[in-house]
Amino acid sequence: MPPSPRLPVSTTLPLDTPRLRLRPLTLADAPAIQRRFPRWDIVAFLNARVPWPYPENGAETYIRDIALPAMAERREWHWTLRFKDGAEGDRTDVLGVISLMRTEGDNRGFWLHPDWWGQGLMTEACAAVTAFWFEVLDQPVLRAPKAVGNIRSGRLSERTGMTLVGREDRPYVSGTHLSDIWELTRAQWRAQTSPSS
Ligand SMILES: CC(C)(COP(=O)(O)OP(=O)(O)OC[C@H]1O[C@@H](n2cnc3c(N)ncnc32)[C@H](O)[C@@H]1OP(=O)(O)O)[C@@H](O)C(=O)NCCC(=O)NCCS
Repeated sequence: MPPSPRLPVSTTLPLDTPRLRLRPLTLADAPAIQRRFPRWDIVAFLNARVPWPYPENGAETYIRDIALPAMAERREWHWTLRFKDGAEGDRTDVLGVISLMRTEGDNRGFWLHPDWWGQGLMTEACAAVTAFWFEVLDQPVLRAPKAVGNIRSGRLSERTGMTLVGREDRPYVSGTHLSDIWELTRAQWRAQTSPSS
């Protein structure tokens, strides 16, 4: 009999990057996310499952009913982004969220408030959670679909060594759009991050 596949069991662990502290998402983050998230320039190219217009209790409902159960079942891993030098215990300074999902073909998602675009912060957060995906969760490949018109997100994929492996239509908050399917294998990631590379 073939050996049974190794099941990743890790909970969402806190991660540090040079500038950021990534904390596991909790229900206490709901008010901060509710303040930051509902903007057209954030949601336009997010999955059509995001309700729009965004309800007043949208963040709380999403965290309580969708994200936390998926985290408990080790199907999804969600982190808030904060500056490391933010006051400890201050939950109002959420810059964005980054997530890993075991969903086939859709393994990583993120958003950052536009006040902090253009500083490389999400690239930094991606490096930390991508390491978590490959080295802690022991996954062989990471795939992420992105609307072709989502220029910033596409540039992030290019910058982080992802490969374009396909194109298909996918549903977003702003409608159905042609989407690039980006991929990074563990071997590619290790080659990029090894000290000799
Ligand atoms: C996708 C998204 C997170 C990208 O934001 P971003 O600010 O472009 O990404 P980063 O934080 O990694 O910053 C990269 C930018 O900072 C610049 N930069 C500055 N300092 C940098 C550094 N130290 N390292 C890397 N990049 C740096 C880069 O040149 C790049 O700018 P450019 O694309 O104009 O060249 C943001 O646009 C967003 O939240 N969009 C809405 C939600 C969304 O679409 N999510 C993705 C769904 S697929």
